Amino acid sequence: MKEQNRRSFLKAGATLSASVIAGSAMGAVSNEKKSEKNDSLNMKTSDRTLGTGQHSLRINHGMGLGCMGMSWHRTYIPDRKPMIELIRKAYDMNVNFFDTAEAYGPWRNEELVGEAIQPFRKKIILCSKFGFNIQDGKLSGLNSKPAHIKEVVEQSLKRLKTDYIDLLYQHRIDPTVPIEEVAGTVKDLIKEGKVLHFGLSEADPVNIRKAHAVHPLTALQTEYSLITRDPEEAILNTCEELGIGFVPYSPISRALLTGYINPLTKYVADNDNRDTLPRYTPEAVTANWPLLETIAAFGNQRGFTAAQVSLAWLLAQKPWIVPIPGTTKQAHLQENLWAAGFEFSKEDLKSFTEQIAAIKITGARN
Ligand SMILES: NC(=O)c1ccc[n+]([C@@H]2O[C@H](COP(=O)([O-])OP(=O)(O)OC[C@H]3O[C@@H](n4cnc5c(N)ncnc54)[C@H](OP(=O)(O)O)[C@@H]3O)[C@@H](O)[C@H]2O)c1
Repeated sequence: MKEQNRRSFLKAGATLSASVIAGSAMGAVSNEKKSEKNDSLNMKTSDRTLGTGQHSLRINHGMGLGCMGMSWHRTYIPDRKPMIELIRKAYDMNVNFFDTAEAYGPWRNEELVGEAIQPFRKKIILCSKFGFNIQDGKLSGLNSKPAHIKEVVEQSLKRLKTDYIDLLYQHRIDPTVPIEEVAGTVKDLIKEGKVLHFGLSEADPVNIRKAHAVHPLTALQTEYSLITRDPEEAILNTCEELGIGFVPYSPISRALLTGYINPLTKYVADNDNRDTLPRYTPEAVTANWPLLETIAAFGNQRGFTAAQVSLAWLLAQKPWIVPIPGTTKQAHLQENLWAAGFEFSKEDLKSFTEQIAAIKITGARN
């Protein structure tokens, strides 16, 4: 690292640590208020709706739990038992929106989630995804052929130990299969009662419109965060026009927006996609440090961590946005849910967003 960059990184690191400690201290000062807030989180004040009419889903806290990292792609794979306990704890904390996919593991994550949700299966919204070929335990290309979708759903239902999936997404658009055929297949599965609602992931406006015309979409799941603002305008406008909810995945950019990642962070290459993504190189992490400094400084003055500011900012964009941060830790789960209790003032939202927009981002998202 060049000396100048290194110095600015160390200074930023010091500021950030101070901010997180200050965030906790402020949290302690207002502990009574927080516990009121905690209760209020259970009072459904922050609930949100994805989708429209009979195709809608009501999400407690306006936030779900991304379960992928409990088995896949986040370097360290924790033991099963504490992850099952974490999912059950989330339910106790009134989380009702759980996200998994056939691809995560592959398969392992659906098996984990399926076991964890058994005691309360019918009381939650269970989301999964299809769309890949899997060979020798590895993803090997896209596959949304109708017969394959039907087969994958049968297998997912077994792994999830259930007879229906509340929200089934196509994981990625398969250019070899017209989206109308995909939507028609999911529509059949809905008629059979094996699936309740339909979603897409990382789809463009043309495919969103075509799919929605065959069967109304409840949600589009796509990467969106303070560092990945690609869906703004075309995608979000399409969702708004059609009454489709939006679910930002990697909403804290795979921990990048929390301050936990620095240029020396190491990833286990065969279980972490961050090792291949340009934004996680030491150079990009250093270059993008001003973004983190800005987020942390904003949170510092208000008693919120960088992760909370990042989630609250997403929630402030549209009332039909429902992020699904992933975590393997109860404390992070609680911290993230508390973000739903923070509301940006109009002025703060404008000035903070302007500050963020002025920062040049280094490194493509994929
Ligand atoms: N549709 C798609 O193509 C797609 C792609 C990727 C992900 N997803 C879904 O989106 C979910 C979330 O995405 P993601 O896991 O990629 O990224 P993310 O939610 O942005 O970040 C997760 C990472 O942040 C850390 N973290 C969470 N809360 C934290 C906090 N308060 N403070 C510090 N660190 C915190 C987690 O580590 P700890 O375990 O230490 O908390 C984990 O390493 C996934 O679980 C999956 O369900 C969908």
